[in-house]
Amino acid sequence: NNYCIIMAGGVGSRFWPLSKDKHPKQFLDILGAGKTLIQLTYERFSSICPKENFFVVTNANYKSLVLEQLPHIKEDQVLLEPIRRNTAPCIAYANHKIEKRNPNASIIVTPADHLILNETKFLKVLSEGIEFVQDGDKLLTLGITPSRPETGYGYIQVENKSEDSYADVYPVKTFTEKPHLEMAKIFHESGEFFWNSGIFVWKLGAIQNAFSAFLPEIKHLFESIEDKIDGVEEQEFINQIYPKCENISIDYGILEKSENVFVYCSEFGWSDLGTWGSLYEHSGKDHNANAIQGENVMLYESKNCLVNVPNDKLVVVQGLKDYIVVETDNSLLICPRKEEQEIRKIVNDVKITK
Ligand code: GDD
Ligand code: MG
Repeated sequence: NNYCIIMAGGVGSRFWPLSKDKHPKQFLDILGAGKTLIQLTYERFSSICPKENFFVVTNANYKSLVLEQLPHIKEDQVLLEPIRRNTAPCIAYANHKIEKRNPNASIIVTPADHLILNETKFLKVLSEGIEFVQDGDKLLTLGITPSRPETGYGYIQVENKSEDSYADVYPVKTFTEKPHLEMAKIFHESGEFFWNSGIFVWKLGAIQNAFSAFLPEIKHLFESIEDKIDGVEEQEFINQIYPKCENISIDYGILEKSENVFVYCSEFGWSDLGTWGSLYEHSGKDHNANAIQGENVMLYESKNCLVNVPNDKLVVVQGLKDYIVVETDNSLLICPRKEEQEIRKIVNDVKITK
């Protein structure tokens, strides 16, 4: 009964120049784990979902990357988007597929690029979460205790009382996606808020009801796909309707608006590997707090830097503090660590396919 939707269509622009349009970060071994982020994601959920119950939603350009990296996934489990429309259409598309297979499905929705350090705890939270959503129209998200006033996340304020028999599950009072810095600081200091991890658990019926209530046009577009046996024809249809879908995330589109949202607050060593800073935090460091990725890097009188360069490149750094230095075969990035959020904007100016 358990299904898993892996959302893998983002570009990972704040990880430029390693993450590029042609090869976004979910398909890279960013952690040096010997596996790419999407492979780690698939493995993490494979003990809870049978392999035929995974759907990977991604851009059509990444089809072969997905099939190569996830050999257990069949072609019809990779749902291809002709253009980016953010996460609400991505989830609606997968819902439509799952509905045909099992209207009673329990669904886990996950990004393809997160790091979870305590997998045992994480799996326990997930199975309790699945149990929790079995009755009633509940949308459950996993919540994380904030450690900084991050503006790239959703903030969740909870009702005081936890749910009967689920001590760590709270009804959500307010959900604010990506607040401004001032607001994020207030949320963080108040101690009343959790971050939205972006990992969701719900019954198919509950999320479909939420689409009917808040994003009915998107839902109707997918319902208009008639049962076409021929996969090619169906793909053509998807290519036609996708541009008509509103470009909106599930967070803005549904979670901010729905009254039925709950949050399971827990610690399982979560990180959204969203920026170079998050990789820095999780990397081993030398005695000057430099995180070095690359076999031929020599740092002198440098502190708190992240250096990520190819192994065959000799890189010498003198007197640098709090900087990110990243080199790939054809690009070089040098950026103060505290300005890393700017990378997303800068990438719009450079041709990221380069
Ligand atoms: N298929 C598909 N299509 N996937 C997409 C698309 C799309 O158009 N856009 C994004 N994704 C995928 C990304 O690859 C990623 O795995 C996931 O959906 C989430 O998208 P992000 O773009 O990374 O979202 P975010 O990090 O800004 O915000 C979300 O995650 C935060 C925690 O990491 C929100 O859910 C926040 O509320 C949350 O705090
Ligand atoms: Mg993200």
